[in-house]
Amino acid sequence: MSAVERLSLRHPAGETPVFVGVGALSAAGEALASWVRGRTLFVVTTPRVAALHGERLAAARDAALRSAVLAVPEGEAAKTAERATALWQEMLERAGKRDSRLLAFGGGSVGDLGGFVAGCFLRGIEFAQAPTTLVAQADASIGGKTAIDLPAAKNAVGLFHQPALVVADTALLATLPRRELRSGLAEVVKMAYLLDPELLARVESDLDRLLGAEAEALAPVVVAAARAKIRLVEADPVERGARRLLNFGHTLGHALEAAAGYQGLAHGEAVAYGMLFALRLARRRGLAPQDAGRLRGLLGRLELPPLPAASPEALAAAMAGDKKARESGLPWVLPEALGRGRVVEGIAAREVAEELDRFLAAPFSD
Ligand SMILES: NC(=O)c1ccc[n+]([C@@H]2O[C@H](COP(=O)([O-])OP(=O)(O)OC[C@H]3O[C@@H](n4cnc5c(N)ncnc54)[C@H](O)[C@@H]3O)[C@@H](O)[C@H]2O)c1
Ligand SMILES: [Zn+2]
Repeated sequence: MSAVERLSLRHPAGETPVFVGVGALSAAGEALASWVRGRTLFVVTTPRVAALHGERLAAARDAALRSAVLAVPEGEAAKTAERATALWQEMLERAGKRDSRLLAFGGGSVGDLGGFVAGCFLRGIEFAQAPTTLVAQADASIGGKTAIDLPAAKNAVGLFHQPALVVADTALLATLPRRELRSGLAEVVKMAYLLDPELLARVESDLDRLLGAEAEALAPVVVAAARAKIRLVEADPVERGARRLLNFGHTLGHALEAAAGYQGLAHGEAVAYGMLFALRLARRRGLAPQDAGRLRGLLGRLELPPLPAASPEALAAAMAGDKKARESGLPWVLPEALGRGRVVEGIAAREVAEELDRFLAAPFSD
C-alpha cells in the first residue's frame, strides 16, 4: 500500500493542498469535511463515475449541511455553454450561496466545466478537484485552468480559478478503460521528457504495469507528474512563459484530433503523434536532442492507433485556426535536450508543410 503524498501548490490567490496516491480520498477526508462543513455542497460528476466510485464521497457529503449531485454528460460533451447555464440554474434553485462549495468528480472534462461553473457562479465560489482519470490526476486538475468549448473551438471560453483542494486518488484509475490510460500516459511522457528525466526512466521501465492499471505502479508516476506540474504552475501561474511547454505535441495534436472529427484519435494519442512531429521540426533547426530515439521508442510501445487519413492541407488549415495562433504564426514547443524545451515562433508554413508530407508517410521514422 503506497503512502499518500500531500503536496502543495502556492499561487497568487493562496495555497492549494494536493493529495495524491492510493487512498487519497480517505487521507484527505478531514480536509474535505472541514471545507464543506456547514455549507451546501454541489458534486459535479458523470453517471459512469458516480456509479463506479460515487460512494467514496459519502463522508464528504455527510459532513456538508446539504449536498446535491449534478450529473453531466460523459466526456467532452459536458463542456458546453448550455450545460454551464443549466448547472448555474440548478445551483440557484437549490439555494446555492456565495459560500457554497463545488466538487468536480471526474475526468478533465468534468474538472474544466466544474471549475468554470464555480469560477463564474455568483462571481466565484470555491471548488475542489477530485480527478478520476490519469489525464486529470497528472495534469488537468492542477493549475486552475478551466474552460468550456464553443462549436467552433475547443476551450474557447474560460478563466483561471484555482481549486481550494485537489484530491487525486489513484485507486480510482483501476476502472479506467485502457485507451484512456494510454492517452494519459502519453501526456505523462510529454511532461517527463521535457521536465523530469527520472520520471521518463520510470515510465520506460514500468510501462507494462502502467498500461495494466496497476495501482502500485501508477501512484508514484502520478505523484511525480503532479510535482512537475506544480513546479511549472508556481513559476508561471497564468501561462505566459514556462507553462507553455506543456503544449509540446499539441499544435499538430489538436489539428489531428480536429481532422479525425474527434473520433479517430483520443487526445493523448493525437498528442503522441504531435510530439513525433515536433521532434522532426526540432531536428531541422538543429535542436533535436540525442535521445529523441528514446521518446520515439517509448511512444511506439503505446500501441497507438494508425494516423487518421488527413491531407497536409486540412491539417495546415486546422492549425491556422488554433487558438494559440498569434499574428507571428503558431508557437511550436520544440525539445532541445532531455529535460529541456523551448517555444519557437515564426516557423514558415512552407517548412511545416514540407515536413508534414514526410511525417504522414512515416510518422515513427526520424
Ligand atoms: N485544465 C487543464 O489544464 C487541462 C489539461 C489537460 C486536459 N484538459 C481537458 O481535459 C479533458 C480531457 O479529460 P480526460 O482525458 O480526463 O477525459 P474525460 O474527462 O473526457 O473522461 C473520459 C471518460 O472517462 C470516464 N471516466 C472518468 N473517470 C473514470 C474512471 N475512474 N473509471 C472509468 N471511467 C472513467 C468519464 O466519465 C468519461 O466518459 C479535455 O476537455 C481537455 O481539454 C484540461
Ligand atoms: Zn493535452
